[in-house]
Amino acid sequence: MAADHTKLLYVWLSFSISFIFTKLVQADNYIVHMDISAMPKAFSGQQGWYSATLASLSTNLKANTNATIPSSRLIYSYNHVIQGFSASLTPAELEALKNAPGYVSSVRDRTVKVDTTYSFKFLGLNSDTGAWPVSNFGKDVIIGLIDSGVWPESESFNDKGMSDVPSKWKGECENGTQFNSSMCNKKLIGARYFNKGLIAHDPNITISINSPRDTDGHGTHTSTTAAGTYVQDASYFGYAKGTARGMAPAARVAMYKALWDEGAYLTDIIAAIDQAITDGVDVLSMSLGLDELELYEDPIAIATFAAIEKNIFVSTSAGNAGPELKTLHNGTPWVLTVAAGTMDRDLGATLSLGSKVLVNGLALYPGNFSSSQFPIVFMDACDKTSELRKLVQKIIVCQDPGKEDSLNDQFNNIQVAGNVAGVFITNNSNVDIFTQSPFPAIFLEQKDGDTVVNYIKSNTDPKASIEFKMTFQGTKPSPTVTSYTSRGPSYSCPSVLKPDIMAPGDSVLAAWPSNIAVARVNEDSLFSNFNLLSGTSMACPHASGVAALLKAAHPGWSPAAIRSALMTTSDPIDNTGSPIKDIGSNLRPATPLAMGSGHINPNKALDPGLVYDATVEDYVNLLCGLNFTAQQIKTITKSSSNNCSNPSLDLNYPSFIAYFNDRNAQSNSKTVKEFQRTVTNVVEGSSAYKATVTPIKGVKVTVEPATLVFNAKNEKKNFKLSIEGPRQLDEAVSFGFLTWEDSGRKHVVRSPIVATSYSTEK
Ligand SMILES: *[C@@H]1O[C@H](CO)[C@@H](O)[C@H](O)[C@H]1NC(C)=O
Ligand SMILES: *[C@@H]1O[C@H](CO)[C@@H](O)[C@H](O)[C@H]1NC(C)=O
Ligand SMILES: *[C@@H]1O[C@H](CO)[C@@H](O)[C@H](O)[C@H]1NC(C)=O
Ligand SMILES: *[C@@H]1O[C@H](CO)[C@@H](O)[C@H](O)[C@H]1NC(C)=O
Ligand SMILES: *[C@@H]1O[C@H](CO)[C@@H](O)[C@H](O)[C@H]1NC(C)=O
Ligand SMILES: *[C@@H]1O[C@H](CO)[C@@H](O)[C@H](O)[C@H]1NC(C)=O
Ligand SMILES: *[C@@H]1O[C@H](CO)[C@@H](O)[C@H](O)[C@H]1NC(C)=O
Ligand SMILES: *[C@@H]1O[C@H](CO)[C@@H](O)[C@H](O)[C@H]1NC(C)=O
Repeated sequence: MAADHTKLLYVWLSFSISFIFTKLVQADNYIVHMDISAMPKAFSGQQGWYSATLASLSTNLKANTNATIPSSRLIYSYNHVIQGFSASLTPAELEALKNAPGYVSSVRDRTVKVDTTYSFKFLGLNSDTGAWPVSNFGKDVIIGLIDSGVWPESESFNDKGMSDVPSKWKGECENGTQFNSSMCNKKLIGARYFNKGLIAHDPNITISINSPRDTDGHGTHTSTTAAGTYVQDASYFGYAKGTARGMAPAARVAMYKALWDEGAYLTDIIAAIDQAITDGVDVLSMSLGLDELELYEDPIAIATFAAIEKNIFVSTSAGNAGPELKTLHNGTPWVLTVAAGTMDRDLGATLSLGSKVLVNGLALYPGNFSSSQFPIVFMDACDKTSELRKLVQKIIVCQDPGKEDSLNDQFNNIQVAGNVAGVFITNNSNVDIFTQSPFPAIFLEQKDGDTVVNYIKSNTDPKASIEFKMTFQGTKPSPTVTSYTSRGPSYSCPSVLKPDIMAPGDSVLAAWPSNIAVARVNEDSLFSNFNLLSGTSMACPHASGVAALLKAAHPGWSPAAIRSALMTTSDPIDNTGSPIKDIGSNLRPATPLAMGSGHINPNKALDPGLVYDATVEDYVNLLCGLNFTAQQIKTITKSSSNNCSNPSLDLNYPSFIAYFNDRNAQSNSKTVKEFQRTVTNVVEGSSAYKATVTPIKGVKVTVEPATLVFNAKNEKKNFKLSIEGPRQLDEAVSFGFLTWEDSGRKHVVRSPIVATSYSTEK
């Protein structure tokens, strides 16, 4: 389903591009940044000024009246996220606008890429100790999601036992098609919808469900992953059965629907973020993003800057474009960028051979399957469809030759032939795409497949039975980095290492609208109140929920402090005691460009010892260091008094990335990259921390001073980290970790260090 969703968005994207070409001379939608300080005193509000500015554009063309340019061309007037508005403009009007007083910059509207019974246990959350009781399960923290809407009838939104809605909340539950204001409660405290941009794009569009109601499922899934309440006996047709609950089961949910089946436009998403800030959310969760834009061109980066200024924590998805490097979106220095990992459970089926040998494989076939034995036959490449058709009463075993599309072809051949079941021996890293099969299918690793093939070859009458709907716990190794999760470095800000952290994103079980089909058996659609989805879209709300727990436990912490706590306490080691591995690189150790600091660990994040904090001023210094023009910086900060006396690419971040990529280096002389950092002690009393750095191939790292002594809570100490290496590093990506440890290892504050020869050229 996640893959389908992404495909759908690609379709939207290409649709909108062709739309632009065919309608070149017609109006298009723009997000326009304005300098409010240029607003004439005569206007009491921005909206009037924006309308008048739009009206004045017609002077070039005809009469200066409001009639020729109706004010309806103004789509949104934004309050917090952008100083400016969105409007429908012809090319001539856009040119005229560029000369209007107060005009700063503009970008064309575009579509965005939209990228749990069990995950809570995997993350070590426990009702009696740790992050849940300490944070009161995230009580009173409000998580706002920009997504596809919500299915309020879900049991995951049951508000039984919840206290009243926090008095600071200013949000609303908007009515609309099949959605009534009374559908919100103390759990789902807000639901709004935004589609003026979508309608401006296509005034003739018919929006099937014009309300916050989720007609896709994505928003119901992400919001309940973040903050769903307890639901017993949740499962996907028997798979992953257990009690479902979100990461912060006592937090509140506010849904801002801006992703529509009919399209997902930035103008609407920005309006949704604007409203979420006005309403008073504490955490903003966005499982979507824009690729390859500079920070000052990326309205999501610009909008989230306003959120950070208001102390709102922002969690975003890295994207599903891995495993190549430099594929991630939301590489924005002020948000959390979340990669997707696997969990330590597999969903599948058990094949019982006639020899009584049991073989487990991956499967998500949702139908009911006979418990009888069937003849089982090995058909190798399974490419002879006429022969397969003669074997309908048998279980067919196929060996995937590992060519492009070979598994896909075998899968289709068995489906068309209609055999009892297909057993696919494959090492395809995208096997997840096939497991939700509409016919009985199992996917085996090579060694298990060999067991089955040997059994078939050495028996005259081979037989087997299959039990589906199995959940296998304790998968090793886990977590692993998924193949699809997008990789750093960040396009927009390469000096800040991204992604930040990894959270569960594979086969995540969460609530689902009961009228949206989740699977098919033969031609029949199947429905369920829970669905399994994979993607960084699923990882992001896990992190949003954990951030809500931290916010409840430490209300005074800044978004950067919360991010630092999440990052420096994350786990770099899997459940076999080895470094976390990357499915996208043949199970080699995952680099920080794939998983960030490591796998999120909520209990440890509660008590990080030290944090790397950052203020709005630090981010401004970074924008100055990126050599942005005053106007570009103003577009992001919405302030005309940006002080660039201290430009620096060296943000006080809990990770390090250094580029040794001078391809024109005359000699192999050494160069040194220096990083200044400040850590804040967030624990009562005095403590002493010692630095250690793991060896990093090709470079030498030193830390000065190597000991930091704190005498009180909130005390800050500085240190310098230097990486010495050749001008052009041999390794594409070399990495290690800096660790600050106090005595007795009560606090272990770990930061990834990456040295790379990768180019930052765009
Ligand atoms: C256009 O509308 C604005 C705001 O409604 C109003 O202030 C202005 O006087 C109008 N201008 C004309 C030329 O009608
Ligand atoms: C929503 O509520 C408003 C006022 O309460 C009402 O005017 C409007 O008709 C309602 N819309 C729908 C779709 O029910
Ligand atoms: C909304 O809910 C209220 C209370 O349950 C009910 O009285 C009203 O008729 C509902 N409105 C719509 C449009 O369904
Ligand atoms: C909307 O529909 C009308 C009537 O069918 C048509 O004339 C017009 O061109 C359509 N507009 C757009 C933008 O497709
Ligand atoms: C499987 O069996 C259960 C219990 O009899 C039934 O409720 C369900 O509809 C069946 N599923 C399918 C896909 O036929
Ligand atoms: C997958 O299997 C094919 C053939 O069975 C083999 O050629 C290939 O090397 C394998 N790939 C991996 C990543 O193990
Ligand atoms: C910014 O400009 C300075 C001076 O020209 C240059 O040294 C530096 O490399 C530039 N930084 C970036 C990020 O382009
Ligand atoms: C800019 O910041 C520096 C310190 O970073 C300060 O000395 C200076 O006064 C500031 N300038 C303005 C105009 O605020």
